[in-house]
Amino acid sequence: MRRDLISIDDLTLAELNDYLGFAARVESMSETDKVTLLRGKVLAVMFFEPSTRTRLSFETAMQRLGGGVVGFSDILATSVKKGESFLDTIRTVECYSDVLVCRHPKEGTARLATEVSRIPVINAGDGTNQHPTQTLLDLYTLQKFFGKIDGLKISFAGDLKYSRTVHSLLHALMKYEGVEFILASPELLELPEYLKLEARRRGHTLHETRDLMEAVRGADCLYMTRIQQERFPDPIEYDMVKGAYVLNAAMLRGCPAHFKVLHPLPRLNEIATDVDATRHAGYFEQVLNGVYMRQAILLDVLEVTL
Ligand code: CP
Repeated sequence: MRRDLISIDDLTLAELNDYLGFAARVESMSETDKVTLLRGKVLAVMFFEPSTRTRLSFETAMQRLGGGVVGFSDILATSVKKGESFLDTIRTVECYSDVLVCRHPKEGTARLATEVSRIPVINAGDGTNQHPTQTLLDLYTLQKFFGKIDGLKISFAGDLKYSRTVHSLLHALMKYEGVEFILASPELLELPEYLKLEARRRGHTLHETRDLMEAVRGADCLYMTRIQQERFPDPIEYDMVKGAYVLNAAMLRGCPAHFKVLHPLPRLNEIATDVDATRHAGYFEQVLNGVYMRQAILLDVLEVTL
């Protein structure tokens, strides 16, 4: 059966943990041993929306496994500009490749691609909906920093309304035992109600606040997010909330040694650069973990076992 990765909700807890184990095995391998694993395979990257980390880490992951990469990151340079449909674009690109990675501003597009594609489709972010590969690398990062995920107290701060990384990660964390959540956001950017209800229904403790310091104190990890201007239907609303939360090094004084700040990146000003030099900054290790996890994902969907 063809393996796709479209929504984190499609994975069971056992499958999430399998991915964490798989990424750890990939990370422990030498580059020499890895470089033959996907020789002769081609990855197609189709980015209908900007990206630095997701696209480049998939490309790096594939190349370091010995495979090749084709694709685009600017639809203005493709026949989409001439009016070619999304589905015809998928039908065309699959003729050149063994696996598709697709990012699109509209929710549900990756799922739609699976309806016509004969090769595996990986969702690299669809609108405000899901970003499952980011979630897997976030889980891997938590596992590496804390040695566990069960029982962690995790704060989310910033744009909890539009952030697909937050929505995806929450869906995954709800599968773990006893994870507690602190949600810090402006009123305009609160987490969608259905996610709060789901977290409570599954027995998770959830505390909401407008105060960023409440999200810092008492948590194991603070997951900061960018307020995403591109998702706002009304620019006036963006002006009302931009810069709402700015974390700086002084605010982290007194935090326990194990406390970590994560961020899917890119950041604007929500994490001041003086945080980077503190022992609490975890976001660039998170970036590196993305390569190992995306190697694990490529190997998995192409049915290579280690
Ligand atoms: N975290 C993330 O998705 O980053 P990019 O938008 O740069 O891919």
